[in-house]
Amino acid sequence: MDWQATRPGETEAPLPERTDARLVFIGRIRTPFATRDDCPRQGRQDGPICQVEIDAHWQPALKGIEAFAELDLLYWMHEARRDLLTQTPRGGGTLGTFALRSPVRPNPIALSRVKLEGVEDGVLLVRGLDCLDGTPLLDIKPFRCSHSHGTTGTSHAAS
Ligand SMILES: C[S@@+](CC[C@H](N)C(=O)[O-])C[C@H]1O[C@@H](n2cnc3c(N)ncnc32)[C@H](O)[C@@H]1O
Repeated sequence: MDWQATRPGETEAPLPERTDARLVFIGRIRTPFATRDDCPRQGRQDGPICQVEIDAHWQPALKGIEAFAELDLLYWMHEARRDLLTQTPRGGGTLGTFALRSPVRPNPIALSRVKLEGVEDGVLLVRGLDCLDGTPLLDIKPFRCSHSHGTTGTSHAAS
């Protein structure tokens, strides 16, 4: 499939010449998904184990993360186009970009809540991802402590 093609009902916006944010990629996500056609639309917590490789420079920032059963991962959908105002997902009607979780958006930031299965030498082993192998990682936020039983996080997870 040509993922860059414009479909019926889709409209485009010119991209600004200047960009403002200066993001830092903190690692890469390794998944079994080599093409967009291989990716699930959303990750499942019973999906395959994926490796989240944290750059050596940022590995000290993982201290304490093993206490969490679930994490929110933010990542950069690096192969997505960024200029669509309306989109026509396969098998659906046309909707505005901000009414969709499509990777195609002005800032292609994705969010998945994943299950943390382990931490090995600066690599997080997680289930619940839907992204291409090699997708850049933007941030990690803890969701739920592994020894908490409710749905709210511990005080340090919430702060
Ligand atoms: C619908 S998005 C959902 C992303 C995230 N779970 C969210 O809700 O924000 C997932 C889809 O994005 C596409 N995708 C995955 N990795 C990508 C990447 N690195 N660049 C562009 N598109 C990607 C695949 O088609 C995948 O099925």
